[in-house]
Amino acid sequence: MQPERAAFAGAPAKLAVTQLRLTNFRSYASGALALSGAPVVLAGPNGAGKTNILDAISMLSPGRGLRGAKLAEHTRKSPVVSDAALWAVAATVARGATEYEIGTGLIRSSGALGPNGGEKRPGGGSRQDKRSVRLNGVEARGSADLGDIVQLIWLTPAMDRLFIESAGGRRRFLDRLVLGFEPAHARHSTRYETAMRERARLLKYGPRDPAWLDGLESEMAEAGIAIATARAIAVERLSRALTEHVGEFPAAALSLSDELHLSSADELRARLAASRIRDAEAGRTGHGPHTTDLMVRHTAKRADAQDCSTGEQKALLISIILADARELSRARDGLAPLLLLDEIAAHLDARRRSALFEEIHALSAQAWMTGTDLSLFEGWGRNAEIFLVENGQFMRQE
Ligand SMILES: Nc1ncnc2c1ncn2[C@@H]1O[C@H](COP(=O)(O)OP(=O)(O)OP(=O)(O)O)[C@@H](O)[C@H]1O
Ligand SMILES: [Mg+2]
Repeated sequence: MQPERAAFAGAPAKLAVTQLRLTNFRSYASGALALSGAPVVLAGPNGAGKTNILDAISMLSPGRGLRGAKLAEHTRKSPVVSDAALWAVAATVARGATEYEIGTGLIRSSGALGPNGGEKRPGGGSRQDKRSVRLNGVEARGSADLGDIVQLIWLTPAMDRLFIESAGGRRRFLDRLVLGFEPAHARHSTRYETAMRERARLLKYGPRDPAWLDGLESEMAEAGIAIATARAIAVERLSRALTEHVGEFPAAALSLSDELHLSSADELRARLAASRIRDAEAGRTGHGPHTTDLMVRHTAKRADAQDCSTGEQKALLISIILADARELSRARDGLAPLLLLDEIAAHLDARRRSALFEEIHALSAQAWMTGTDLSLFEGWGRNAEIFLVENGQFMRQE
């Protein structure tokens, strides 16, 4: 047996990307970064390709990544596209003392042409292209298999309006946090949504076969209560972590807009069965975990998050993400998740910027931070790896 390679001799155990290679990924024809595991700063002008790097790293974990984009959208728009891989992200990831080689990408399958003759679609994808996920050289079943290896959380400028916009965004944000604690959450969500869509279709177009509807409502009820329970546990866990911790970022109280987790699957099933006519008339399912909202309160201000200033809202989000990182780290052998913090310095005053760095340091997390201005990261020098990104090149700053 080969001895395991010590990823970080003498340093605290970490989860970190130590090598990153991109091929045909968005603005990068090719790109490579070698990293020590320390926090990473990517600074550079607008359009330099900073967020693209974070997006690439987010593809190393389950799901669609930080932009939530379709797979084909990652393919570099350029006249020359390699035949085999439409895009690829390869990384060496250190998890404590163990190293993993992860490769993912969109590959053009060489098999039979699809129904449209395999024509190219805008964005470079075609019908038979498929995502490939390889772990230590072996094809994995899918990106879900990466969930045990790479935990990551992101914060992007698009989330600045999270507390103001619709409940859907907050629900998706919560569900990503829940997934860190409960990997089965994704499966329950898919099961619930599939059954809900099928029930809605039957209610709209028929046949309204009671036995068929009963079966779908049983699926929805079982998966629905599992979803609600996992959310309630995560919210309680995060609320506790937020209360216990004193720091520069504000304490927040999290709660759910309903108490669905207190119901039994039988109660939810009965309620769904009783609301068939109402749901058919409304054209939507009126009750269930798909309507739950995440409520956030700024404890010290005694105000709901939506009534706080932009900077206060950002600070609340950072609080939640740091609390989640602490909890995840506690649940996973002290290994903090990767933190992808896009344009993190915007909205934070100097005191909060340095507090954030202290927190990241205390977590021993590999945080990936971007900003347009190097000066925002002044003073971080020796404890972070700083790169200037320009024209698709990375220049290490000493
Ligand atoms: N599929 C693609 N093919 C080619 N270029 C792309 C693709 N997707 C995005 N880009 C380009 O990549 C460039 C860098 O985008 P990115 O979002 O990484 O910039 P950034 O450094 O984060 O800038 P900002 O400071 O404005 O946020 C942009 O000019 C964008 O148009
Ligand atoms: Mg950006």
